[in-house]
Amino acid sequence: SLVSLRQLLDHAAEHGYGIPAFNVNNMEQVKAIMEAAAATDSPVILQASAGARKYAGEAFLRHQILAALEAYPQIPICMHQDHGTSPSVNVRAIQSGFSSVMMDGSLKEDGKTPADWAYNVAVTRQVVDIAHACGVSVEGELGCLGSLETGTAGEEDGVGAEGKLDHSQLLTDPNEAAEFVKQTGVDALAIAIGTSHGAYKFTRPPTGDVLAISRVKEIHARIPNTHLVMHGSSSVPQDWLKIINDHGGALGETYGVPVAEIVEAIKYGVRKVNIDTDLRMASTGAIRKFFVDEPKKFDPRDYFKLTIKAMSGICKERYEAFGAAGNA
Ligand code: G3H
Ligand code: 13P
Ligand code: NA
Ligand code: ZN
Repeated sequence: SLVSLRQLLDHAAEHGYGIPAFNVNNMEQVKAIMEAAAATDSPVILQASAGARKYAGEAFLRHQILAALEAYPQIPICMHQDHGTSPSVNVRAIQSGFSSVMMDGSLKEDGKTPADWAYNVAVTRQVVDIAHACGVSVEGELGCLGSLETGTAGEEDGVGAEGKLDHSQLLTDPNEAAEFVKQTGVDALAIAIGTSHGAYKFTRPPTGDVLAISRVKEIHARIPNTHLVMHGSSSVPQDWLKIINDHGGALGETYGVPVAEIVEAIKYGVRKVNIDTDLRMASTGAIRKFFVDEPKKFDPRDYFKLTIKAMSGICKERYEAFGAAGNA
């Protein structure tokens, strides 16, 4: 059944677990997530970016998620707008039937220019007023996602700040987080702790200086009743990286957010964990391997089936590691 983000995260907080929020664009991703959730009895957050709506089209995107609701009536599902960069994007998502939206006012409407405090508070407050009147939850964001190693958002396309970011933008301040939640009334807050979108997060396995789990603890101590959200939380699985590169791919050496670090953050208030890149990598790896191993085959179902299996494997691991399993 369709549920709001607030309902899911309140339960997660009460029982001390986290929920992976996977990005969806196509049927194979939706199926992979739902099969994993059904197998592990986990609550589901399906999130769609503005890019997803552009790729699938509004109707195909909405109906894919509605198909998940129909096929898995026993599983609670939150339909979440990821990185709405303006109030109007979020209002369109609410009209489309989404039960949760993200007003990402950390960046201006272009999704590239870091915004100031007054802008972020104003647009987020506006969306909270509209969304709450419709029973829809709101995630806000304070701080800019980006690498503490390079001082950049690191994402070539998609949502991410352009140009150099300084330390204070890359790490959410606990006192400002408290003030932001108070002024906006958001249901959940995305924070910046050194993670970034995409596959190139860290040049070496991350240590505390570049992945600030300590900052999660400080923010949680200040606002213990606010649900925290980690973006850029793919783990960049080294086994899939190798499969991609062993079958014609050319991804460089790179590291993501270790699952163990996410599990630690979940002990300190992180309830929603955004993951897109890991499923992209699993799906690409499965297809690349198939094309090399099976040069005579050409029925797309043969390789799309393998992508579902590959993505579903990762989803199951995350549901179990984050403690969501058994909580549907
Ligand atoms: O915001 C980051 C998500 O990975 C969505 O990416 O905008 O390419 O769909 P996208
Ligand atoms: P990844 O690129 O690490 O998967 O992050 C996804 C995300 O934060 C979507 O909002
Ligand atoms: Na989001
Ligand atoms: Zn994100």
